[in-house]
Amino acid sequence: MSRKLVTISQVSQYVDQEVTIGAWVANKSGKGKIAFVQLRDGSAFFQGVAFKPNFIEKYGEEVGLEKFDTIKRLSQETSVYVTGIVKADDRSKFGYELDITDIEIIGESKDYPITPKEHGTDFLMDNRHLWLRSRRQVAIMQIRNAILMASAEFFDKNGFIKFDSPILSSNAAEDSTELFETDYFGNPAFLSQSGQLYLEAGAMALGRVYDFGPVFRAEKSKTRRHLTEFWMMDAEYPFLSHDESLDLQEAYVKALIQGVLDRAPQALETLERDVDALKRYIAEPFKRVSYDDAITLLQEHENDEDAEYEHLEHGDDFGSPHETWISNYFGVPTFVVNYPASFKAFYMKPVPGNPERVLCADLLAPEGYGEIIGGSERETDYDKLMARIDQEGLNPADYDFYLDLRKYGSVPHCGFGLGLERMVTFVAGTKHIREAIPFPRMLHRIKP
Ligand code: 4AD
Ligand code: MG
Repeated sequence: MSRKLVTISQVSQYVDQEVTIGAWVANKSGKGKIAFVQLRDGSAFFQGVAFKPNFIEKYGEEVGLEKFDTIKRLSQETSVYVTGIVKADDRSKFGYELDITDIEIIGESKDYPITPKEHGTDFLMDNRHLWLRSRRQVAIMQIRNAILMASAEFFDKNGFIKFDSPILSSNAAEDSTELFETDYFGNPAFLSQSGQLYLEAGAMALGRVYDFGPVFRAEKSKTRRHLTEFWMMDAEYPFLSHDESLDLQEAYVKALIQGVLDRAPQALETLERDVDALKRYIAEPFKRVSYDDAITLLQEHENDEDAEYEHLEHGDDFGSPHETWISNYFGVPTFVVNYPASFKAFYMKPVPGNPERVLCADLLAPEGYGEIIGGSERETDYDKLMARIDQEGLNPADYDFYLDLRKYGSVPHCGFGLGLERMVTFVAGTKHIREAIPFPRMLHRIKP
């Protein structure tokens, strides 16, 4: 018998036609003559309906009852080929329903551990490989994918070339964060913290470049914003000034948000994300404030009722309560620029006339989602860079390739890195970063 195999996301093209879908049973309800089956196949969720008299009419008493009984006994996460007629259905959010005409079990599922009741976080994390099937997790992964697609499209449209930085490295890209060390045939090697340094070499060869890959930081921080393995998108571009670099970053983040609105509206709805807020972040200009002005603002407001942060002096680094307060104060994504050199990376160029501050910016997402981008203008002068490497106690021999870029036609250049999972949490509106990546690695978590 021939069948028309389609995905749930395609059913709108087959209204009033018979199709077959390979799917899993997410849930089931109904009584007596009627059975409702919630089907999912990764592309979407929707409902199938089986009506006993229809089965008897179609297959005769014996086979009809048997088929209907099979549907009634389907357990959660059983995989099936389900055949039926696609019906437009205004009452369901999805807009369509399947009038089931036939069913074939592919794989049984007994005692599936994640039931529709509430489960604790540890239990869900231990069962991450199964938790990923739930409606909410599927929606988050669809948003992650939408961001990736929008990112590639933005770079392509803006003349960037994808340039893959290595993961194994002999140097530290971010001297301010911790490295994972591994043995490389008897010598130490490190897992990349950021592709930036290599990407700078790429920029001198190809102009505008970007990379996208996993990065690793042995940070012992246990927060809802930190992973030890996460995916970073770095971009690097010659000849742009720091202000032009911020313009580019702003356009990029707006394109990513727009990409999710366009590509994953259903996922945003599932997560009950405030879509009007996302649209406002696209429509309004991002705020830019200097680090020192931000400190002054924090000091002025530290006795306010909503100010749940500790007092800071000029020169202190922000904690997440400070970042949250600043971004809430402005209500839109906010670039904090020109931080103290003392707690930023060695490669940043000083602000002209103010060597204690560097030409960098962190983009803070509103609503308390924290820093989503770190970027800067890079030091281009060989001697100044060498002095910074010395000052930080780094070994110049590890950076000889990087220093070479300052010897042979050094040019002004800027770049930034966006943490994909931070961006996903922000756009999806999820509380914790552990849901923004398929298999999160955190301080006490490397399984499954
Ligand atoms: O601010 P960071 O450390 O910047 C860099 O690594 C630069 N080399 C990037 C560049 O200029 N090419 O990291 C960039 C972003 C942060 O803004 C944040 O979004 C994310 O990476 N990030 C993390 N995400 C999850 N878990 C962590 N532990 C993270 N640390 C940074
Ligand atoms: Mg940073």
